[in-house]
Amino acid sequence: MCGIVAYTGEDTAKDILLAGLKRLEYRGYDSAGVALEGIAPDGSTTLDVTCRVGKVMGLASELEGHDAASTCGIGHTRWATHGKPSVANAHPHTSCDGRIAVVHNGIIENFAELRDELASRGHVFTSETDTEVLAHLVEEAYARHADLMAAVREACTHVVGAYGMAAVSADEPGVIAVARKDSPIVVGRGERGSYVASDVIALIDATRDVVVLEDGQFARLTPTGIEYTDDAGEPIEPAVTHIDWDVDTAEKGGYPDFMLKEICEQPRVVRDTLVGRLSATGELDIDELGLTFEELDLIDRVYVIACGTSYHAGLVAKNLIEAWARIPCEVEAASEFRYRNPIITPSTLVVAVSQSGETADTLAAIRDARIKGAKVFGITNVVGSPVARESDGVIYTKANKEIAVASTKSFIGQIVSLTLLAMLLGQVKGKLTTGQVRMLFRELGDTAAQIQWILDSQRTAVHEAALACKDAQSALFVGRGMGAAISYEGALKLKEVSYLHAEAYAAGEMKHGPIALIDPGFPVIAVTTKSPTYDKVVSNLKECEARGAKIIALATQGDEDIKQIADHVIYIPPVRDAFSAITASVPLQLLAREVAVMRGCDVDQPRNLAKSVTVE
Ligand code: AGP
Repeated sequence: MCGIVAYTGEDTAKDILLAGLKRLEYRGYDSAGVALEGIAPDGSTTLDVTCRVGKVMGLASELEGHDAASTCGIGHTRWATHGKPSVANAHPHTSCDGRIAVVHNGIIENFAELRDELASRGHVFTSETDTEVLAHLVEEAYARHADLMAAVREACTHVVGAYGMAAVSADEPGVIAVARKDSPIVVGRGERGSYVASDVIALIDATRDVVVLEDGQFARLTPTGIEYTDDAGEPIEPAVTHIDWDVDTAEKGGYPDFMLKEICEQPRVVRDTLVGRLSATGELDIDELGLTFEELDLIDRVYVIACGTSYHAGLVAKNLIEAWARIPCEVEAASEFRYRNPIITPSTLVVAVSQSGETADTLAAIRDARIKGAKVFGITNVVGSPVARESDGVIYTKANKEIAVASTKSFIGQIVSLTLLAMLLGQVKGKLTTGQVRMLFRELGDTAAQIQWILDSQRTAVHEAALACKDAQSALFVGRGMGAAISYEGALKLKEVSYLHAEAYAAGEMKHGPIALIDPGFPVIAVTTKSPTYDKVVSNLKECEARGAKIIALATQGDEDIKQIADHVIYIPPVRDAFSAITASVPLQLLAREVAVMRGCDVDQPRNLAKSVTVE
């Protein structure tokens, strides 16, 4: 996702754009930019474009003392899809003559052919992005129409894909042309001007009466009004929506807390993390790793180092890397890794996983591993973070800003990214054929809809399970294989947001000690999804049931047998066991949050915790 803001009116456009972009940073923040209308010494109108890598705050400092008189402009905060985060790739993008500027949210699927066509007609491109083709398409159309709205409408007829876009022209001072297809655009009138944004949160201070543009609708904004038209250019009167959220709620998109909002964003995180990752020939594309297939093939050992939830993503990765690439993979708590003098050779790959990208333990481990000669990859959610900067290559999880302290959507983004890495290693080492990679990639993408099914259909089952364990003193999470890996994550989630003590064990370990904890009513949350070890897990559960445990089972849709031993069943759709961590984690996140809410806890900011731990 990216964030768009635009304004034309009586006030200082720069201030309005920066404030709006700050509100939209959750949509992406690897770079930001604005185009502001200015007046040249000869009195003609110009467009002053300023772009900056990093967050909006950096752009604001760059704009200090500039463009204070401008009353019309467009702004953008980027989350990179095509082209790395850089000034050249930051929006706005401009026409060859610099007199037209556009900002865009979405993906132009046919941008490569459009780019070739435009270049063959003499257009010069300055970025790697798909968006830049829009600026040149509008430029060509404007030469024919001499009308910005008509030019934008024509430009959109050439585009295959999704766009929410805004454009300005130095030849039409005060006018902003807006178009929407599959990417959100909201417009509205304030007392002192007209506004555009990707999300209502960015213009709610100016107006609560907004028009959410629909696909194929266009808007022409001036300082005194907004004209709406359809794709034929005919006037329309779209519905006006009154926003009754307060700003805080609007930032949560109507959800009661960020944790639930972010849990519900997970289908998008899966889809976004996979965008552009598989070529037409079935080759995986993780070009950020900066390693050739030959160099990857030389890797004979992988360490995944991380902390907390990110460490649990590593536990999932271990199963996948060893299954598909057939090389040893060890998962290490970063705080331990550097103090035990690990065995590292030039063919060792260290993968550092960190949502914040600034966890001190993980950073220290990276530095140590690099001194010992390891190749280090970072998997992080924060562009330009220390982990990203200090790694040889980096994969950005496409989760966007995660506000709740308890990691949820970034965890899913980490698992999907690590799954891609495992598939790549398997493909490079000849253990996975191109056909197998294509099939796995497709099934991996299917988990987005499976998560949505869980969110749509299992909230009641989760609520009832939460009621059953909310008053317990302690709980056990058990599973085998992937089920064991996410049991550790489930226990951490429950602990950190509800303060209910929880532990996780491989189900087979119960009889070697932990089963001593079981007394009547003791909650055991078990991952009993269909897997090669399903029958074994069920046997372990029967041992718990025999001692009076209250059993909450995560099961595969259609499994009726599990009801014979479980007090509560939460279902997930059938999925390949390798991908079950992605979907089965969601009920555990929801369960932790439900229990926390029932226990009156602050799910977004649990006591004693911080979103990033920058001390060792
Ligand atoms: C998980 O919900 C916690 N927020 C915490 O365990 C976190 O995963 C850990 O501190 C690591 O943070 P990082 O991913 O930013 O490195």
